Amino acid sequence: MAVLEIIKIGHPVLSVPAKPVVNIDQTIVELASNMVNTMHQAPGIGLAAPQVNVSLRLITVDLSVGENKDELIVMVNPEIIEQEGEQKAEEGCLSVPGIYEKVLRPARLAVKGYNLDGQEVLIEAQDILARVLSHEIDHLQGKLFVDRLSPLKREMIKKRLKKELAKGTNI
Ligand code: NI
Repeated sequence: MAVLEIIKIGHPVLSVPAKPVVNIDQTIVELASNMVNTMHQAPGIGLAAPQVNVSLRLITVDLSVGENKDELIVMVNPEIIEQEGEQKAEEGCLSVPGIYEKVLRPARLAVKGYNLDGQEVLIEAQDILARVLSHEIDHLQGKLFVDRLSPLKREMIKKRLKKELAKGTNI
């Protein structure tokens, strides 16, 4: 298992739609395992393949951050098939270090996808799990959480990120 480099905001891979996984082969299984490792190491509760520079529809989620195996979700080609309500809470992203903002998300959603054995999986989620799934699936559409903020807020964040870069902060 390897710890992969997490791609940061500004890299084109984060802003293009990811391609569906066609074959769940050994490469995909290894990628998923490395993504789980990278997510736990970060630490984070979710990761999408574009964040490790692989433009494929694959996500990992673990609200327990490695504490509870039953909470680990690896989903291939996830798709939101139903959503309802709204929730607003602060969130961040491993690809947008140091920035935390309140983001509007669906309160509840149903996601259909496949596990690594190729079996269809349906997840019905609410609260934080719905938030994370929505966030990770956004990554697969080339969308970061800052893209869900108002244009004014986004501009302010861009300036903040530029300043950090000028200071030589490692982001
Ligand atoms: Ni993210």
